[in-house]
Amino acid sequence: SNQPLIAPSILSADFARLADEVAAVKGQSGRGADWVHVDVMDAHFVPNLTLGLPVVQSLLAVTDLPLDCHLMIENPDRWAIDYAEAGSYNVTVHVEAADDPVMLAKNLRAAGSKAGLAIKPKTPLEAYLDVLKHYDTLLVMSVEPGFGGQKFIADVLDKVRKARRMVDTGHLNLIVEIDGGINADTIEQAAEAGVDCFVAGSAVYAAEDPALAVEGLRSQVEA
Ligand code: DX5
Ligand code: ZN
Repeated sequence: SNQPLIAPSILSADFARLADEVAAVKGQSGRGADWVHVDVMDAHFVPNLTLGLPVVQSLLAVTDLPLDCHLMIENPDRWAIDYAEAGSYNVTVHVEAADDPVMLAKNLRAAGSKAGLAIKPKTPLEAYLDVLKHYDTLLVMSVEPGFGGQKFIADVLDKVRKARRMVDTGHLNLIVEIDGGINADTIEQAAEAGVDCFVAGSAVYAAEDPALAVEGLRSQVEA
């Protein structure tokens, strides 16, 4: 895989100061965040409520970092396109929630974003290999979606290894992303399994200096 990408999740940021919090992970060293991960939750697909399209539009206006929108919502077939049209770099939908994930990927790409597919910890990968041919990113959830600060579920690394093999053998062309419980203690095992992009919320925003926390995670996984 290529150089690792680090995507801080603003779920653990101060929602009253989001522009500053995004600037804080960018830092000034050039080794800060590659993407900003934005967790959209609707209190139906997951038992939590966060933010939606208006906040994403406002963030797009104040940062040049690519936004990686993770939609933990019902009916993404209807709503995801709006996040792509707004200018998100990547829009990830949950396979458990999508009615027609292939059509959805085509619509997202036509709207100008990358298309991402997320799978919950207990969702198998095998059933979706054909669907994944239409996607640019695969988000392997390593906690049950809904909340930051949960414990990393190492069992999901089998799915990461499988996806890595499919990419390395040319059967899929995906950025493999992991989300949940990534910190200094877990990031190396995720990297060894073949992750390209690491989402980290609490590990970054609980730190005194979020940009430095990003750099620290990066230095643990870069070649
Ligand atoms: C959880 C979200 C994650 C969350 C990760 O449903 O999808 O992006 O922010 O938080 P940490 O890194 O604290 O596990
Ligand atoms: Zn997420």
